[in-house]
Amino acid sequence: MRVVLLGPPGAGKGTQAGRLADRLGAALISTGDIFRRSADEGTELGRVAEGYMSRGELVPDDVVVAMVVEALEGAGQGFVLDGFPRNIAQAEALERRLEELGLPLDLVLAILIDDDEVVRRIAGRRVCLSCQTPYHVETAPPTREGVCDACGGRVVQRDDDREEVVRRRLEVYHASTKPLIDFYAERGVLREVEGFGPQEEVAARVDEAVGHASSTAGRG
Ligand code: AP5
Repeated sequence: MRVVLLGPPGAGKGTQAGRLADRLGAALISTGDIFRRSADEGTELGRVAEGYMSRGELVPDDVVVAMVVEALEGAGQGFVLDGFPRNIAQAEALERRLEELGLPLDLVLAILIDDDEVVRRIAGRRVCLSCQTPYHVETAPPTREGVCDACGGRVVQRDDDREEVVRRRLEVYHASTKPLIDFYAERGVLREVEGFGPQEEVAARVDEAVGHASSTAGRG
């Protein structure tokens, strides 16, 4: 299956994306994770992305689109895209590329929470520097403080999780990313999922939407 995860910062896209990709046996392409890993490794891509990320702005479309096109080459027929596309121009570029590959999207899943919940979640978010597994100091802490359960890496606060940057990321979401909900609704592939409640409940809603999309894929 080919799935896009949409939603505001902190909606739980990263939390659900890894689990969903494992379940579907699909490649996971997370643009934020690729940028953070590149910044950590000190690559040219990482240096370019870091400045935009630390201000809560989008990395320029040409940089992101080229990166995703390359990632799609290695992804095979099934993938979960987390954090891409982020605006109409990126969505159109993705649509063109997937048309060339003959691999249309099966499902665009919008995980939705309100702005107050975004701020509450992101204030407590911690993330593994090595494998990017997300944690939360209250709702999902690692077993040992500061140490990743999955890989033993160091668990820290993201630089762009500072309050003023989160506010800018929210503005960018409302102005640039939210219009994608209508864009994909018009194409008949959108499902909206409530992002409130325990992670397992959100996961059950995600699985239900995926099950529905896979049972209707190829019809009509
Ligand atoms: P990116 O890394 O994609 O950040 P984001 O979209 O702002 O999303 P987040 O990672 O903040 O949140 P999430 O929805 O993944 O939530 P999570 O699962 O972690 O992008 C970062 C930056 O990179 C951008 O600002 C931009 O600069 C750049 N970038 C990336 N893609 C780009 C693109 N396409 N174009 C241009 N620039 C791009 O969960 C959040 C917290 O909540 C965690 O602590 C988690 O444990 C907790 N949590 C999860 N689920 C629940 C639940 N059900 N209940 C309670 N807590 C929960």
